[in-house]
Amino acid sequence: MTATPPASPKQLPPRRGILLAGGSNTRLYPVTFAVPKTLLPVYDKPILYYTIAMLMFADIREILVITAAGQSGMFKKLLGDGSNLGVAIDYIEQPEPKGIAQAMILGEKFLDGHRSALILGDNIYYGAQLAETIAKSSRIPEGAGIFAARTLNPEQFGIVELDEQHKIVSLVEKPTQPRSNLAITGFYLYDSQAPELAARLKPSGRGELEITDLNKAYHELGKLHATVLGRGTAWFDTGTADSLAEASEFVRAVQRGQGTMICCPEEIAWRKGWIDDRELESIAGRIKNTNYAAYLRSLPAGNRLVSVKA
Ligand code: TTP
Repeated sequence: MTATPPASPKQLPPRRGILLAGGSNTRLYPVTFAVPKTLLPVYDKPILYYTIAMLMFADIREILVITAAGQSGMFKKLLGDGSNLGVAIDYIEQPEPKGIAQAMILGEKFLDGHRSALILGDNIYYGAQLAETIAKSSRIPEGAGIFAARTLNPEQFGIVELDEQHKIVSLVEKPTQPRSNLAITGFYLYDSQAPELAARLKPSGRGELEITDLNKAYHELGKLHATVLGRGTAWFDTGTADSLAEASEFVRAVQRGQGTMICCPEEIAWRKGWIDDRELESIAGRIKNTNYAAYLRSLPAGNRLVSVKA
């Protein structure tokens, strides 16, 4: 009898995506009294478009959007069931903002034993080779993956310290004496163990299930991988009025300079062949006479072989 070879990454079922778009959003008061942060615009599209685009770059087509209590209706109005984008979107509400790691517990049923990618609804990424980097990291069959970016304000983020071989030495949430300037950004990859490990976490001093604690649990098992996003990658955590304005300025400058859109989900769906020219035209019709619609309409005439860049 021959032994069954272990499943190669290619044979594993695709990851499912969780987009965490709840939270209390207090740093943007009064703007977020009535409107969730992730529905606010960064230049020409809601913040949520940039984050759903990241999941799409990773070839994820089954997505759970977690909203704050009472807010899922607004998100459904924007994204519907996802079929416009060639993906399937489910929604659930987080009763209270009890921490980012709680997403893995709330999402357990949706994940149904699949590997996952978790993205925070307010993190925006852009850079050459980013889509390829994410797609490549996403192929790790086991364990968890974090993406780190250099920051000038390490006290404000979860920080990862790496040795010379890029092995993780420590993970610290908002360190007072940072040992590195590598912030852990809001995109995470997990294997099927994550809901179980998250359920074992204890709430932190601020009463939340901390994502850093979940990542530490993987680190202790020797199963946490870190990818450092290079200098050519921009990362924005759009939690404050200034970071929102900076992200908008950045997107506007790049888009107007290059004539290409950053993180346009309809374009990504179309380039991946998940929607066809007719469906793209129908979306453009709904967006009416905007530059956004004109851009979508211009795509089929262009070169289909140009690959999508994040
Ligand atoms: P944070 O920026 O940590 O928190 P927040 O958005 O609630 O904002 P503030 O500090 O201004 O009060 O959250 C990062 C993202 O994760 C953000 O999109 C909200 C989301 N989130 C949840 O959906 N549920 C949660 O329990 C937490 C803590 C965050």
